[in-house]
Amino acid sequence: MDRLRVAVLVSGHGSNLQALIDACQTPGFPAHIVRVISNVRDAFGIQRALKARIPHSVIDHLEFKNRTDFEAQLNDELVSCSAELVCLAGFMRLLTSSFVKKWQGRLVNIHPSLLPAFKGLDTHARALAAGVKIAGCTVHYVSQDMDAGPIIAQAAVPVMPNDSEDILAARILQQEHIIFPLALKMIAEGRVKIKHGHVLFDEISLDDSVIISPRLT
Ligand code: GRF
Repeated sequence: MDRLRVAVLVSGHGSNLQALIDACQTPGFPAHIVRVISNVRDAFGIQRALKARIPHSVIDHLEFKNRTDFEAQLNDELVSCSAELVCLAGFMRLLTSSFVKKWQGRLVNIHPSLLPAFKGLDTHARALAAGVKIAGCTVHYVSQDMDAGPIIAQAAVPVMPNDSEDILAARILQQEHIIFPLALKMIAEGRVKIKHGHVLFDEISLDDSVIISPRLT
């Protein structure tokens, strides 16, 4: 079976990119990364792509006079590498609705909260301020509304009494590194369908561990 051609967009550290690279290097994994693109010149994610010998480029949004021109370049690069799926892995640029429309159903994002709670930025601080006892992360399809597309996978973690933003973020990030490759695998296997705005799975089993229960260890 042909492996799904994936492009990954990053803006920063790229630990989620690394999780996807590692998964794609597993024998038999049904997807491979054909391109990494960063909108930030010195993003560490670019170093990760270099090390893994994945074609990569920087499209610095600051060099474009508007979003439309930036996204036109982005779109050209995605088309030229024949990307079939685009993973936003810590890509900190809002995409316009016309770009999202073009890639709808082929564009997924990871967000560090249990959506639909805590959309947008500063999710960990807001979760702590709200006093929630469970936090987590979500992989979802990108839709026109921010952080609101069909949910593919989620993982939950406990919030502990003395958690700082950084400690909570690190606990959630560990789970991000599990569910993003898991979601990619299910998409690449053609097991993810969208019906009435929700994701349905063909053949889901407990082994897929889509939901990771909080453990108080
Ligand atoms: C992650 O928490 C992701 O959910 C959010 O930005 C962070 C990126 O981390 N969108 P990294 O660059 O993958 O290490």
